[in-house]
Amino acid sequence: MEKGVSYPTALRIFRDRHNEMKLFSSSLHELATNNSQFKEATTCLSIGTGCGEFDIEFIQKCLSKLKEFIAVEPNRDCAKELEANFKKHFHGNLTLEIFEMKVENFVDLFEKSDDDDNNYVSKENIHDIAAKKKMDLLNGKIDVFIAFHVIYFLNSGDRSRLYDTCFNRWLDPINGQLVFANAHGDNAIVGLMEQLGAAPFLTSETIKQELKINGVQIVKELTYRGLIDLDGYSIDHLNGMFHFTLKNWKLNSEKVSNAIKAVASNGYGSFVCELCVC
Ligand SMILES: C[S@@+](CC[C@H](N)C(=O)[O-])C[C@H]1O[C@@H](n2cnc3c(N)ncnc32)[C@H](O)[C@@H]1O
Repeated sequence: MEKGVSYPTALRIFRDRHNEMKLFSSSLHELATNNSQFKEATTCLSIGTGCGEFDIEFIQKCLSKLKEFIAVEPNRDCAKELEANFKKHFHGNLTLEIFEMKVENFVDLFEKSDDDDNNYVSKENIHDIAAKKKMDLLNGKIDVFIAFHVIYFLNSGDRSRLYDTCFNRWLDPINGQLVFANAHGDNAIVGLMEQLGAAPFLTSETIKQELKINGVQIVKELTYRGLIDLDGYSIDHLNGMFHFTLKNWKLNSEKVSNAIKAVASNGYGSFVCELCVC
C-alpha cells in the first residue's frame, strides 16, 4: 500500500467521515421484509469482504439460518481483521473460509475447470487446489452472493465474467440471490474522482444496467442518502482509500482542496448509495 496507510486504516478513516453504516443498517429491515429466500439461506459467498463489518451487519439482520460463509478478499490485512471480527460476532457458530485472492482469479478457477478438469490447477499452488475442492462444493449451492462496495474495482470484461459465473455457476438456480451495494452517480466521491481527473468511478446505475443487459432481474432497489465530511481529507488518506483509481495521478494539496470545494462547497458532500437484490 502506498504512503504507508494500510487499507483497513484508510477504510476506517474514510468511514469515520460519513454515516453509511447507520443508513445501510436501517435499509436492511426493508430489504429483508418478505424475502423468504434470505430467511432460509444457509450458504453465502462474499467478494471484497474487507474487514467484514457490512457483511456481519447483513448476516445478523437478514440471514438468521446462515451456516457457511465464504469470502474472497485479496488484502491480507483485511482478511486477518475479517477472521477476528467473525470470531468475535459468531463465536465459531458459523463456518468461515477465506480465499485470499482477487475475485478475477477466483472466477478464473471456475472458467478453467470448464476447459480442462485435470490440468488447470497449478500443482505448486496449494491454494488453487483448496479452491478447486471448495468450488466443487459450492457449484450451484450458494444462496446469497454479496458484493458490497467492490464491483467498481473490476474492469468491464471482468464484471461480465463475474455476472456470468455468479448466476450460471455459483448461485442456486432457483433461490440464489445477488445483493450488492455501490455508490450512486450523485455520490460526492464520484464527483471528486471526476474533478481529480481519475478514471470514471463505476456507479450503481451502470451496474444495474449491465445486469439487466445480462438478463438479470433486479427485485429490490433501495437508495440511501447521507453526508460525507470531506473537509481536510488528506492526500495520504485519499490515496490509501482510492489508490486503484488514483494510482497514475500526481496529486497536490491545492488540486485536492479545489476538487473538494467543487463537490462539497461547505465541506459536506452527499453520500448516496444503492443497495439492490437481484
Ligand atoms: C471499499 S472496500 C469494501 C469492503 C466491504 N465489502 C464493506 O463494504 O465494508 C473494498 C474491498 O474490496 C477488496 N478488493 C479490491 N479489489 C478486489 C478484487 N479485485 N477482488 C476482490 N476484492 C477486491 C479490497 O481489498 C477491499 O477489502
